[in-house]
Amino acid sequence: MAYIIWTLFVVVLSLAGQVYSAVNCAATGAGRFPDPSDTTCKNYTICIYKSSTQTYSAYNYACTSTEFFNPKTGLCASNYVCNPAASLCKYEGYIPNPTPNNCSCYIECVKIDDVYIATNYCCPDSTLFNPDSTLCEADYKCPKPAFKCTEAGRFANPADDACKTYFMCVLVSNDGTMKQLNYTCPSTSVFSPSDRFCTTKYTCS
Ligand SMILES: *[C@@H]1O[C@H](CO)[C@@H](O)[C@H](O)[C@H]1NC(C)=O
Ligand SMILES: *[C@@H]1O[C@H](CO)[C@@H](O)[C@H](O)[C@H]1NC(C)=O
Ligand SMILES: *[C@@H]1O[C@H](CO)[C@@H](O)[C@H](O)[C@H]1NC(C)=O
Repeated sequence: MAYIIWTLFVVVLSLAGQVYSAVNCAATGAGRFPDPSDTTCKNYTICIYKSSTQTYSAYNYACTSTEFFNPKTGLCASNYVCNPAASLCKYEGYIPNPTPNNCSCYIECVKIDDVYIATNYCCPDSTLFNPDSTLCEADYKCPKPAFKCTEAGRFANPADDACKTYFMCVLVSNDGTMKQLNYTCPSTSVFSPSDRFCTTKYTCS
């Protein structure tokens, strides 16, 4: 009995697999389309028109783990940016990478049928994306991340190219809460990150 039920189950499953189409091919026509129910941009369907029966055959596929389906090209691509497109793209053009302080890559926004398609691109070596000019520039300085205390001690201010300022992190509570103080080195001294104090012997680079 269990065997019969199992066999029926398998038959029903395989039939369902044959007729199931993630995309309504009659509405889209022939081509390669994203599965509208898949918010991870992995699944897509190839719709093929059969003139003999005047119907569509649908074949469901999934991109590999490192790739996403780009509806613009109809192909799986590793640089296609899934989903944030709609929220990140406000106009057609180039926008900065949403990862803070990562200026090596940027996003291209293109509007197709009122939907934004976002594609990730990276600048050529030794250039960085300048959001003002929207170009990859050799002399653009990427904003450095704001310092935040994670352990007690004195630390160089990563945003200070002159090495004059530093942070002091003081543990103020057993739960790990830190107090963050900033200081400026006196007169001609600069903060040495290895010594963790102000010195005239250190050369700021
Ligand atoms: C994507 O396809 C896989 C099979 O290839 C399936 O298991 C999964 O449920 C699909 N995801 C969505 C959201 O449809
Ligand atoms: C910047 O982001 C891109 C992808 O968004 C990634 O490939 C690259 O490694 C990141 N670079 C840094 C320095 O984090
Ligand atoms: C240093 O502290 C002052 C006052 O607390 C603050 O205005 C200033 O922005 C701080 N500087 C840095 C680099 O955090």
